[in-house]
Amino acid sequence: MTGEDAGQPGRPDRIVTGPVRSSERRCRKRLDPDTVRTLPDGTDVIVDLSEWPLPLGLEKVFGSAAPVALEIGPGKGEFILEMAKANPGMGFLAVEYKRTRVERIGGRVVRAGVTNVRLTWSDARILVTDCLPPASLVAVYMNFPDPWPKRRHRRRRLAQAPFLESLARVVVPGGTFTLGTDVEDYATQVVGALELAGTWENVFGRARIVDRIEGYGTTHFERRFREQGVAIHFLRYRRL
Ligand SMILES: C[S@@+](CC[C@H](N)C(=O)[O-])C[C@H]1O[C@@H](n2cnc3c(N)ncnc32)[C@H](O)[C@@H]1O
Repeated sequence: MTGEDAGQPGRPDRIVTGPVRSSERRCRKRLDPDTVRTLPDGTDVIVDLSEWPLPLGLEKVFGSAAPVALEIGPGKGEFILEMAKANPGMGFLAVEYKRTRVERIGGRVVRAGVTNVRLTWSDARILVTDCLPPASLVAVYMNFPDPWPKRRHRRRRLAQAPFLESLARVVVPGGTFTLGTDVEDYATQVVGALELAGTWENVFGRARIVDRIEGYGTTHFERRFREQGVAIHFLRYRRL
């Protein structure tokens, strides 16, 4: 484990579901107490799952009944900030399992004065499977998930059938799931699973993968790949 990895709530190949409260209690102990995370009105932008009744009441989390979108693995957080600024009538929740990233994004959100972003420090599988109410999200974004390009590591990829089934539970009918990746066979694998599931339809036409989505925010990884001339693959599915 690297220094940054130490203190994660779980490695992707070990945690699928688990005792949320105890794992989150561990997380809370390690969040840096000096993290900038409070908006001027006293709202904490980091949602500590161990302190909230589950399933998570998103109206309470956002202080409004606004539609909520989830970003999985926000990294440095520029995408969620861009989307939140462009859509002030929506709530944007991000789940990230690297502690330092959550802390840094929290500081960025507060400094930018953006009030419609909340962050959770957790494994996305725990949040989606155990913590979110059914049909509670209008959109889910997964931008450049860890690629696990080697054939023998593919089973570690997050966007696989069991997790996609959990996503189908939390996305409202008509809501969407968008994934962007530089790894073509990851995109193809996800398209295959979603086409088979029978609970989603491709927004762009059966099994279609596109290289760009108009009006979609940009991430650090996307910018880097485009600068290097690397092809990007986007898919978007609507929940039936
Ligand atoms: C390759 S980075 C991409 C970051 C950002 N989305 C971008 O495009 O610049 C993948 C991110 O997903 C996070 N991540 C990976 N697996 C996760 C999981 N199971 N739960 C939550 N976050 C996860 C990683 O910590 C990392 O921040």
